[in-house]
Amino acid sequence: PLPPPYQVPLPIPRTLEPAGSGRYEIVQREVTAEILPGVRTPLWTYGGTFPGPTIESRRGRPVTVTHRNELPVPTVVHLHGGRTPAASDGYPTDLVLPRGWAAPATPHGSGHGSGHGSGHGSGHGMHDPRAVVTEVTRDYTFPLDQRPTLLWYHDHRMDFTAPAIWRGLAGLHLVRDDAEEALGLPAGPRELPLMIADRAFAADGALAYPALDPALRERPGVREPYLAGALGDVILVNGAPWPVHEVDAARYRLRVLNASNARHYELEAVGDDGRRLDLVQVGADQGLLAAPVTHRLLPIAPAERYDLIVDFSGVPVGGRVRLLNRLGSGRTRDVMAFRVARKAADGSRVPATLSTDLPDWRRSDAVRVRDFAFRTGHLHSGRGWLIGGLPFDPARTDVTARLGDVEVWRLIADVHHPVHLHLVGFRVLSRSGRPPLPHDAGLKDTVSLRPGEAVEIITRFDGYRGRYLFHCHNAEHEDMGMMANLEIT
Ligand code: C2O
Ligand code: CU
Repeated sequence: PLPPPYQVPLPIPRTLEPAGSGRYEIVQREVTAEILPGVRTPLWTYGGTFPGPTIESRRGRPVTVTHRNELPVPTVVHLHGGRTPAASDGYPTDLVLPRGWAAPATPHGSGHGSGHGSGHGSGHGMHDPRAVVTEVTRDYTFPLDQRPTLLWYHDHRMDFTAPAIWRGLAGLHLVRDDAEEALGLPAGPRELPLMIADRAFAADGALAYPALDPALRERPGVREPYLAGALGDVILVNGAPWPVHEVDAARYRLRVLNASNARHYELEAVGDDGRRLDLVQVGADQGLLAAPVTHRLLPIAPAERYDLIVDFSGVPVGGRVRLLNRLGSGRTRDVMAFRVARKAADGSRVPATLSTDLPDWRRSDAVRVRDFAFRTGHLHSGRGWLIGGLPFDPARTDVTARLGDVEVWRLIADVHHPVHLHLVGFRVLSRSGRPPLPHDAGLKDTVSLRPGEAVEIITRFDGYRGRYLFHCHNAEHEDMGMMANLEIT
């Protein structure tokens, strides 16, 4: 029994209290929670809740997060959008093992270095000789020497990222600094994190996921007809179905993340009179834009974030503004609602200049142009998703880039693929030869390739040397091969 929309109050994930200066502790554990009213749903969580607790950090102040794995499977933590040394970046085979874990048998004997490509589906991931394996707990250190923005942390275990996120392993991490706070954007209770994620529920209340191996131990991937990605018919915001939030008739800052595995949204804010409110974008995945960009409709692909200002001051008290998904139908058209409860003073501002530190790399700065085709293809175990004709193999280096180099990458898509690079932010240069779209503004770490498109991005490989990743952030595509190694030397 699905609840009617706009009844459940919007939860705000709790902010994690430090366990010491710059130190946090998170226990990954199974809980049962009430997501749909009156229904018990088992979840995998960071710290007992979905979303996990929010970490609030200051730019340039390192934090160490100790994760303890009390789940029945190995896990890997990745801070998405973090400028993180490779040792703490959550490489998919750097496992935090659960107590008593015995690696699954490898029936096909994938052997050393044969890796993912030939062994897909054999549970070989545990045997990568380069894997750094620790037991039960692991410290992840994040320097956070980066532009302030909304990051998120989520599971990144090889072959099983999608079902792990689906079961609840996702949380927010905000980075702030004085310059951003001095802008006067809406703050305090008028700044709302919104983690949007769709889920499907089985009759017994459990989350339904079409895994080939429901124990998530041996065989990765999903059943037909979900090869393109797992979709749910329930839209959750901060873990609540189609929630409602009471607001003042004032400006709000919405920190929106699409944490769905595969669902794309096209967001619009619609008042009772059918009129659309402006979605004033002030930031992208990697922080503030140079100047605000106003949208009426805003597409958001998996893992993208938008920092939006919405002004409710023109809405009559008692009125409602619905956040809708134009790409949805039936129940997936609704996302959440805001109910304007009262008139209120508003001292916030949206300055015409938001930031002046955006990197402005030029094509002529690039020492290299690379092409990557993101396409469907065949894995040993069946259909999958490939980059440049190859499925992910932890033993193969796909790209070697020199620290400090500027490169242009041309990303070519068959169907929708939200492409994410670890470590670096990038700018969108063009889409199939045309100028970028309005929502491509600013510094990104995930770009949504539309079907048939060739998108050029430019970046500087900056920060740290080591082994990183780039991949499709459709989580099912990622698990079914669409990931590659990026070695920075
Ligand atoms: Cu959001 Cu490689 O991940
Ligand atoms: Cu994809």
